[in-house]
Amino acid sequence: MSDQQSSFDSVLSEDRVFPPSPDAGASLGGAWIDSMESYRDLHAKSVADPEGFWAAAAEDLDWFSHWDTVLEWNLPDARWFIGGTLNACWNCVDRHVESGHGDEVAIVWEGEPMPGGEPDVRHLTYAEVQDKVIRFAAALKGLGIGKGDIVTIYMGMVPELAIACLACARIGAPHSVIFGGFSSQAIVDRVEDADSRIVITCDGAWRRGLIVPLKDNVDEAARNTDRIEHVVVLKRCENEVQWIDGRDAWWHDLMESGDGPVECPCEPMDSEDMLFLLYTSGSTGKPKGIMHTTGGYMVYTMLTSRYTFNLRPDCDQMYWCTADVGWITGHSYIIYGVMANRVPTLMYEGAPNHPEPDRFWSIVERHKVTQFYTAPTAIRAFMKWGDEHPAKHDLSSLKLLGTVGEPINPEAWMWYHRVIGSQRCPIVDTWWQTETGGHMITPLPAVTPTVPGSCTLPFLGIDAIVCDERGNEVPPNSGGLLAIRTPWPSMLRGVYGDRQRFIDTYFSTVDGMYFAGDSARRDDRGYFWIMGRVDDVINVSGHRLGTMEVESALVSHSSVVEAAVVGMPHEIKGTGIAAFVTLDPSGEPGDELKVALREHVAKEIGAIAKPDMIRFTDALPKTRSGKIMRRLLRDIAAGAESTGDVTTLEDFSVLAKLRDDEE
Ligand code: PRX
Repeated sequence: MSDQQSSFDSVLSEDRVFPPSPDAGASLGGAWIDSMESYRDLHAKSVADPEGFWAAAAEDLDWFSHWDTVLEWNLPDARWFIGGTLNACWNCVDRHVESGHGDEVAIVWEGEPMPGGEPDVRHLTYAEVQDKVIRFAAALKGLGIGKGDIVTIYMGMVPELAIACLACARIGAPHSVIFGGFSSQAIVDRVEDADSRIVITCDGAWRRGLIVPLKDNVDEAARNTDRIEHVVVLKRCENEVQWIDGRDAWWHDLMESGDGPVECPCEPMDSEDMLFLLYTSGSTGKPKGIMHTTGGYMVYTMLTSRYTFNLRPDCDQMYWCTADVGWITGHSYIIYGVMANRVPTLMYEGAPNHPEPDRFWSIVERHKVTQFYTAPTAIRAFMKWGDEHPAKHDLSSLKLLGTVGEPINPEAWMWYHRVIGSQRCPIVDTWWQTETGGHMITPLPAVTPTVPGSCTLPFLGIDAIVCDERGNEVPPNSGGLLAIRTPWPSMLRGVYGDRQRFIDTYFSTVDGMYFAGDSARRDDRGYFWIMGRVDDVINVSGHRLGTMEVESALVSHSSVVEAAVVGMPHEIKGTGIAAFVTLDPSGEPGDELKVALREHVAKEIGAIAKPDMIRFTDALPKTRSGKIMRRLLRDIAAGAESTGDVTTLEDFSVLAKLRDDEE
């Protein structure tokens, strides 16, 4: 973090403030809030009277029955819109069809394969999405899946992924989406934790010209757990798959249910019924299932989508978020928040550099993308690939740029602003988390002056603070813990099956508040600057991983006795993974074993968890009480970046003694 911090400081001292761009707002159809004064006024009101503010926001959804009470807050438990019933699928799809917009485009999809040919493109209207969702929802019911049953989804980025999620929402079966880059072991862990009987998958997914064998991974998972009773398979790649009669069913067979319309009405869901589970990494143990419920999540994601991205129906917008639906960003800002606003959402299946590093810009040009939302890690990769790739394309449709997932270094921010946004698009640097459900600290386009590297100010209704452990606010420009003082509608409702972990992780560090796990500081303007995680979670390319998960994966290899994993600075990924490993006498340190260990981690977790650097060591530096001295390892890993991935058998005993009292 220190490098990043110093570059933030140098930008701050230049006082490089970018005034808001009202033109960008105007060309999108107007800004929902149009001045800093109105933001400050509305923010103050929303925090002073959250119930009044959120009740008004909730009126923009369709409710089957109105709520009686807006909020019940017994720390750490929030319940929103109590007594109200609604359906997320109805609000994203059916209500648009009912109100006469069935012919408008809901989802635009572009598949990856392209060399030599035209790109695969599909446009699905709301009416088409509705028809497919109804058919699939009915098919799920036919398989015995109903309200409250958790449905695991492990697919590539195809429209059917959104359709599967919406079908689950329709019948009240919470979905648990697993990122298609995770391994079969990750499927086993999540299926078992959620007690999920069904997995929806694809024969494969295209990624950088190759097929990721998703169905094979599910088959392997099913050999290692007895929970999986049904596997539904979408044919995407003509990839050959093994078949188990009675267990496996083709998506297309299930969708063909004879002549005539299929009936499957939207289930009225209690506002506090679970909409989905999404697993994310923490400091300890296996990834935890974050629970989001229906009413509060829909209200919050709809409002943040609208205000942060200036989403407006009927204004010729084409919104594209490049995240995978396997992450919270895809849930909130590809599917639910965006579709609730009746603005077309673009999904792209593959890699940003396939077949060439200009793929994203060719998509922007061909589909006339107006709002574009991506991660700093992608921006850094584009910078590296060179300005000539965006320069080949007309990017003038772009009106707004967004970033999410990790701190953005000012250099990357400036490049994004200059090369992609032609110095006219506002950039919204949105800070939030799986647990928060939606944007928490973010500029509002056309309103908030931005400073590269700062996510600026809290969203409406959000009472964010940088404080010490007692909850006392720290002075400007001092680092502290980032906490949220009061509840907001889309906050997590718990960790699935682990009440204590919910309390310990989020409500035990700072007295009486939600603790995010990040440190931050506020500048003299009151702007927030995220400094990074304070726990043992690392953010690799905007993907969250627990160091302990990677350590457990390494230790499960027969040659490894002990492992310690820390983050290290990485030019593109932001944070890379450094592993210090002690070996069993049978283990032969060397490049071969390094390759084997990387593959082993990929198999246990997924390719994103492969260590960038592995060092073999005789012992790990520990304090007298036996705690691994992570700070020392972080220093060593940071220093090692320039010297590259050197194999050394290190003896930390001397260093350990010197630093023994530090940790
Ligand atoms: O450390 C923060 C970082 O990502 C963490 C949340 O990760 P995850 O739950 O996977 O959600 C990512 C997508 C919302 C946070 O605790 N983070 C997220 N956005 C930003 C960020 N760090 C700095 N700036 C951001 N804009």
